[in-house]
Amino acid sequence: MSSVQQGVKKLFQKVIDVSSCDTQKAGMAPISFVRQVLAACLYPELLKGNCLPLDVRQRAQRLLGDCYGGSVGSYSPVKGMQLVCESIAEFIMRRDSGARSHPENIIISSGSQYCLLMVLHLMANGEGESKTGVLTPMPCSDTLPMVLNLSAVPYQLMEDRGWALDLDELHRALKNARGHCKPRAIYISNPGIPTGCVQDRKTMEEVIQFAAAKGLILLAEEVYQDSVYGQDKEFTSYRKVLQEMEKKYSETVESISFNSLSNACTGECGLRGGYMEATNLDPAVFEYLRDIQRTSSPPTTSQLALEAMVNPPSPGDPSYETYTREILHTRTTLSQNAQRACEFLNNLPGMKCQPAMAGIFLYPRLQLPPRIIEEAKVLGVKADVLYCQKLLEEEGVCLGAGCENGQEDQNYHIRLCVLASPATLDEVLARLCSFHLRLLDRFP
Ligand SMILES: Cc1ncc(COP(=O)(O)O)c(C=O)c1O
Repeated sequence: MSSVQQGVKKLFQKVIDVSSCDTQKAGMAPISFVRQVLAACLYPELLKGNCLPLDVRQRAQRLLGDCYGGSVGSYSPVKGMQLVCESIAEFIMRRDSGARSHPENIIISSGSQYCLLMVLHLMANGEGESKTGVLTPMPCSDTLPMVLNLSAVPYQLMEDRGWALDLDELHRALKNARGHCKPRAIYISNPGIPTGCVQDRKTMEEVIQFAAAKGLILLAEEVYQDSVYGQDKEFTSYRKVLQEMEKKYSETVESISFNSLSNACTGECGLRGGYMEATNLDPAVFEYLRDIQRTSSPPTTSQLALEAMVNPPSPGDPSYETYTREILHTRTTLSQNAQRACEFLNNLPGMKCQPAMAGIFLYPRLQLPPRIIEEAKVLGVKADVLYCQKLLEEEGVCLGAGCENGQEDQNYHIRLCVLASPATLDEVLARLCSFHLRLLDRFP
């Protein structure tokens, strides 16, 4: 147990945790529209007065009309509420410029990671050489190794190219898997967690062609689609690229894409909501996915919030201005923070940070003094973990250690969520800087 956990008196006032994707934990405010719709659905007395904007009350009434018994306290259908599935399908069609999406291809559940877990659970099969394998990016999200208890087939992202995905590396990874497992899927994180890389169309087409040639299901985690801020970068979904390719791909490649209520702008991690949309998936397989959910319908509250997320106020609606201002505030804070933090980290000796283009993390590389690495060996921990432990002990800042993201030995990184209030980020950077310089001083 660390001395912080033991309650030993420290020089800092409080611990700041910027290790995870939980932006509200890091001080970001929720979107009012989402919370107001939820509040009115949970306590319909609020519908009577004028304390909530008219569009919020109308939305809540519509949503309650889709709840059994007109109450959020009743179970929802196992596949999710019809109205919510329809709103998600409409959102996907708007986002992908009209490529049709069908509510029946959508499954809502308590978080996108649970959706992924269901898919992987279904795919898990075999032993030894025939055990299901999944091509997995390195680095990947820190939660992925927990979800992936199948054989991960690692493919390395190219750090010096801004963490780009490389086709030759996919071929190498697949070849290496021979004799160890049977790869059945490729997992893509775009925008990348924790790298913030946004893939270009050419790369995405190559991935789709690769998946088609190798008979792999494409699992596209697109949780940070709402937070692309890199210059001249924009989010394009795998689904859209696939649908715009030749028929031999668009009508055959099986893909599932994931999105979440925990994304950057909505940031409602604790409400636990996410969905997946399947394209070209064998209908029997899709039915199995539904079967897995049969005993546990998704929570109503997260579905209501999902609906508010994918179907925000339109121009002219009473809530439009507040909603737009809040979203803009989040996006501006994120892009300014990311740029500022990246410059700051790149000015520290022994630290090199690729500029992120999206998402909420920075993932700088650490060049650690050999004596720290030795000390970590003696203690039986990874050197980046030791770095983070010391930082927490001495400065009360909690960052993620790169090894949690699947990084190999001697490849040290730290993970830092930059979607926090600018004042919090300033505090984090100042504490990190004084710790880092002290460390280099102690172990020159
Ligand atoms: C890879 C990845 N996908 C999705 C999410 C969001 O997951 P959920 O929708 O379950 O909150 C996270 C959050 O940690 C993540 O790391």
